[in-house]
Amino acid sequence: MELKNLGSTSLMVPEIGMGTWKHSGGPEPLLRGIYLGAYLIDTAEMYRNEEEVGKAIAARRNEVILATKVLDSHLRYDQVLRAADESLRRLSVDCINLYQIHWPNHSIPIAETMRAMEELVDAGKVRYVGVSNFSTRELREAQGATISYPIVSNQVLYNLTSRRIEEELLPYCQEHHITIIAYTPLADGSLATPSRFLTDRRLKVLEQVEAQTNKTMAQVALNWCTSRTNVIVIPKSNSVTRTEENCTASGWRLSPAQVRTLDEAFA
Ligand SMILES: NC(=O)c1ccc[n+]([C@@H]2O[C@H](COP(=O)([O-])OP(=O)(O)OC[C@H]3O[C@@H](n4cnc5c(N)ncnc54)[C@H](OP(=O)(O)O)[C@@H]3O)[C@@H](O)[C@H]2O)c1
Repeated sequence: MELKNLGSTSLMVPEIGMGTWKHSGGPEPLLRGIYLGAYLIDTAEMYRNEEEVGKAIAARRNEVILATKVLDSHLRYDQVLRAADESLRRLSVDCINLYQIHWPNHSIPIAETMRAMEELVDAGKVRYVGVSNFSTRELREAQGATISYPIVSNQVLYNLTSRRIEEELLPYCQEHHITIIAYTPLADGSLATPSRFLTDRRLKVLEQVEAQTNKTMAQVALNWCTSRTNVIVIPKSNSVTRTEENCTASGWRLSPAQVRTLDEAFA
């Protein structure tokens, strides 16, 4: 498994982690993923599965980088502190490795939210602070509101068919050493199998690269994401076999020509 720095920190994280939104596969896929090196696990108070995730990883807690998120409706100072305590309790851990603001909320001053996030780090309840679904402008504002700790990551939609971040956000994050945690990297599975969401031309190109690399469509789609500097992915799977497949999307690289061909087909 290839590792990348988490933001500007010296912590190395796997370029393939695991998402858990709508996870219903029990502990096995998560444990298999951890074993294969995909030990960054993403959840959220919104997913209502923190207890289940906490139980699944309990025996491997020390190996796991646990990422969770505070809801955008809980971004007042007191609410953030309370939400973090509740996540810690549900996860059954004493520290959240990466605590992310799930969505921005313009009705609450970002400085108020960041004050609580930083206090959580000071208290040892959170190790690193991240955001999610923040535009470049929102990210800049959030960075301006931090005093002691950098924002290490922005979790956003990114896959072959959703490439909006390439215009501005991705270059900004690369320049400022903020990890992009790409969510829905398989476009909800539609990049992993021939689907009606893929045009004939795109399917043909994916299959062509699949044949050249001797990898699966899912692996090609994930490797395309991680071929970008600073980008890691968090595919979700209920299945041990598909988790194994996703983890094996690391440890090799699409050639620059293959990346270019995919870029053009999915422009
Ligand atoms: N921050 C946010 O606002 C936000 C928003 C959305 C998602 N996320 C995070 O990102 C994670 C991943 O995104 P996602 O769950 O939306 O979508 P995704 O990972 O792109 O796709 C998940 C779907 O793909 C299928 N799949 C996974 N691996 C496969 C493979 N190798 N072959 C074929 N099908 C495969 C899964 O089915 P099986 O489970 O049956 O394998 C599932 O239906 C989430 O779980 C969540 O942690 C964050």
